[in-house]
Amino acid sequence: MQVHVLGSGAGGGFPQWNCNCSNCRQLRDGTLNGSARTQSSITVSANGTDWVLFNASPDIREQLASFPPLQPGRAVRDTGICAIVIVDAQIDHTTGLLVLREHTEPWDVYCTRAVHEDLTTGFPIFNILSHFQGVRWHEVPTDETPFTIPKAEGLRFTAVPLRSEAPPYSPRRHRTVPGDNVGVRIEDVRSGRNLFYAPGLGEVEPRVLRYFEAADCVLVDGTVWTDNELAREGISDKRAQEMGHLNQSGEGGLVGVLRPLACPRKILIHINNTNPILDEDSPERAALAEAGIEVAHDGMDITL
Ligand code: MLT
Ligand code: MN
Ligand code: ZN
Repeated sequence: MQVHVLGSGAGGGFPQWNCNCSNCRQLRDGTLNGSARTQSSITVSANGTDWVLFNASPDIREQLASFPPLQPGRAVRDTGICAIVIVDAQIDHTTGLLVLREHTEPWDVYCTRAVHEDLTTGFPIFNILSHFQGVRWHEVPTDETPFTIPKAEGLRFTAVPLRSEAPPYSPRRHRTVPGDNVGVRIEDVRSGRNLFYAPGLGEVEPRVLRYFEAADCVLVDGTVWTDNELAREGISDKRAQEMGHLNQSGEGGLVGVLRPLACPRKILIHINNTNPILDEDSPERAALAEAGIEVAHDGMDITL
């Protein structure tokens, strides 16, 4: 199974268009040892030809341009993307669907009932797309029953409901239901190896930890180092926890959860532009390395 990171940044990307935090400023100045990041998305294939897109970011046009296997090669209108899985209805995970409107047939989109509800009401992208080729919605179960995608040969998927947040526009903001956010176990049926992908994760419940422990690689929420990071930068008084993201540092933080895990590869993704780990010379980055934790970057390839 091949995993390609299309976008490793959180909503807004890095640098964010209107942000002058120390990371964004230093990246623009050329004084940061770090790299720019587009918004949150990965793609996965077992056969190297048929790719499942996980989340459709506003940056998808640039992401497709950066990865030839997704580009047209076989017909006058063509794509390597065989289906789309959406883990939550957040803007950074869904807006790219509008960019993909020129597709020549309905997109096969896999998401939960809760996500479908947001994407047909508060942010009615699916309704809008019905005026183009439309969306064939496949309901993703929230009871951890595995499912397959007929066009994605050799892969099996399990959605795992996570404690996180519904989007700011959702009527379920701060009162989520199972299925507003999921992590996905992606298994290569032939090799038995699996990736656990969870770019939005507010709490690692014991039920979720079991998926971490059974994975060959976890690719998890790296949004913030500290819960009050946005306030410290003078950006917003919102805590990460209120937005459905678990901080990495401190007691109960993600580093403490990941460090003791036997899982061979532990990688952070969906990294917010305020996070000090984006500076490759920072003590926070060194602390991750010491804990055996990697940081995803755009264009990263993971072979499992
Ligand atoms: C999130 O992950 O919390 C959201 O994508 C934030 C946003 O809407 O930018
Ligand atoms: Mn996000
Ligand atoms: Zn910034």
